[in-house]
Amino acid sequence: MCWWLLVLSCASLSSIVLLFLIGGQRYKVFSEKCVRRPGPLVTDSKQRDARLTRGFCVDLIPPALDAVVIGSGIGGLTAAALLSKAGKRVVVLERHDRAGGCTHTVQNKGFEFDVGSHHLGQLHENSLLRVALDQITDGQLQFARLEPHFHTLILGQRDERREYHVHAGKTQMAESLKKQFPGEEAAIDEFIRLMKLASRRMPLIAILKIIPHWLVNFLVRTGLLGHMSAVFHLATTNHSEMMSHLTRNKDLQALSACLCYGVPPKESSFLINALLMHHYRRGAYYPRGGGNEFAFHIIPVIQQAGGDVLVRAPVRRILLDQHGKAYGVTVLKGPEEIQVQAPVVISDTGMFDTFQKLLPPHIENKSEIQSLLGMVRHGMGSFLVFVGLNGTKEELGIVHQLVDV
Ligand SMILES: Cc1cc2nc3c(=O)[nH]c(=O)nc-3n(C[C@H](O)[C@H](O)[C@H](O)COP(=O)(O)OP(=O)(O)OC[C@H]3O[C@@H](n4cnc5c(N)ncnc54)[C@H](O)[C@@H]3O)c2cc1C
Ligand SMILES: *[C@@H]1O[C@H](CO)[C@@H](O)[C@H](O)[C@H]1NC(C)=O
Ligand SMILES: *[C@@H]1O[C@H](CO)[C@@H](O)[C@H](O)[C@H]1NC(C)=O
Ligand SMILES: *[C@@H]1O[C@H](CO)[C@@H](O)[C@H](O)[C@H]1NC(C)=O
Repeated sequence: MCWWLLVLSCASLSSIVLLFLIGGQRYKVFSEKCVRRPGPLVTDSKQRDARLTRGFCVDLIPPALDAVVIGSGIGGLTAAALLSKAGKRVVVLERHDRAGGCTHTVQNKGFEFDVGSHHLGQLHENSLLRVALDQITDGQLQFARLEPHFHTLILGQRDERREYHVHAGKTQMAESLKKQFPGEEAAIDEFIRLMKLASRRMPLIAILKIIPHWLVNFLVRTGLLGHMSAVFHLATTNHSEMMSHLTRNKDLQALSACLCYGVPPKESSFLINALLMHHYRRGAYYPRGGGNEFAFHIIPVIQQAGGDVLVRAPVRRILLDQHGKAYGVTVLKGPEEIQVQAPVVISDTGMFDTFQKLLPPHIENKSEIQSLLGMVRHGMGSFLVFVGLNGTKEELGIVHQLVDV
């Protein structure tokens, strides 16, 4: 979903800021030249494993590291690849036995399953996400476009069962919704307008993350922020509240938040749901070869700069010197804790693990950290069922789309 885009842009932004901080000079990170024609799909599992499951051992830690990244999710890999493009030597430490985080795949009974990501949007030619992915994989990722009818939502049980469909397409998305919800044309037009506004003004929200904190506080406290753009209002209004102004149709309200990520519409920001819907407006895509193609093609970029991605490397602690500056991490190897030192440490393990498990307790106790941690809660738990179907899609009569029940 489009947290992807968020993860990617946050990782890119922070890495770019980092580049200036640690280097103090201008680097050429992006180039058109690095984008090569995609090579043939590597299906040999030995060859894939050699890259995706390099086990941690002391001898494999590259010398004179510029940065350590904890976690090989798409966020960690993106940060590491960008630093590598700037000539930095980075090691990514992953506690699982294969790289990729939520993009890794598992094999069972001859089938391969994606554990997380299964469709991405905004991958049309020259889109930000496409360009970013091309840069961090040297152009090696390929995508298959899904059917325009990419999402089905089933509401109610038995006799009350209703089925709704979401179509991609600049005009088709609104048109198909209008056909399914006669009489709701005005609400649908307004939803689409807000969706476009959310997407266009999203950079303003990113800017809040890079301008000085005191300035952000000032803008929030004085209410000036709200006057600068309507996007801040969309961000701070919950989905149910916003949709209740647009329509009384409960099914349309539900459909507008159907790209579910474990937070109910009452509690989720309208902005995020609108951005998610917008993310697929021009089509949904699947990485050719499966989810683990991301890690498979990002790892060589990190290795080219002398870095590496090592698995079975559970990071236990982030090490701080007496001034409170991070200088490395320790990795649990059996009963031992092995030090991996670098002047920059990037954690892709989420804020709870980073502050509550990896950093020393006196950091977590700081009032500013407490107030940060108090603002977020863990997501809802869920379980996934993986079903393997043996046959071609013609034989099985299936189309590429997602069904939420
Ligand atoms: C079921 C599911 C379906 C999804 N579908 C989609 C979709 O269709 N489209 C889409 O765009 N997005 C989708 N997403 C979301 C997307 O996959 C995630 O937002 C994204 O991959 C998260 O990346 P990340 O780098 O932030 O974290 P993660 O991928 O969670 O990576 C964090 C990594 O850190 C490692 N780690 C944690 N602690 C330590 C430690 N102490 N030491 C070493 N390593 C550690 C973890 O093992 C993990 O590999 C889906 C997610 C799920 C779960
Ligand atoms: C699918 O069926 C074919 C033919 O019966 C069989 O050869 C193949 O191994 C099966 N694949 C899986 C993954 O079960
Ligand atoms: C959603 O917003 C409305 C209006 O601001 C508020 O009354 C309600 O409590 C919010 N819902 C939740 C779950 O926070
Ligand atoms: C952190 O705060 C708790 C509760 O206020 C306190 O009991 C604990 O001693 C503190 N720990 C450190 C390391 O400061």
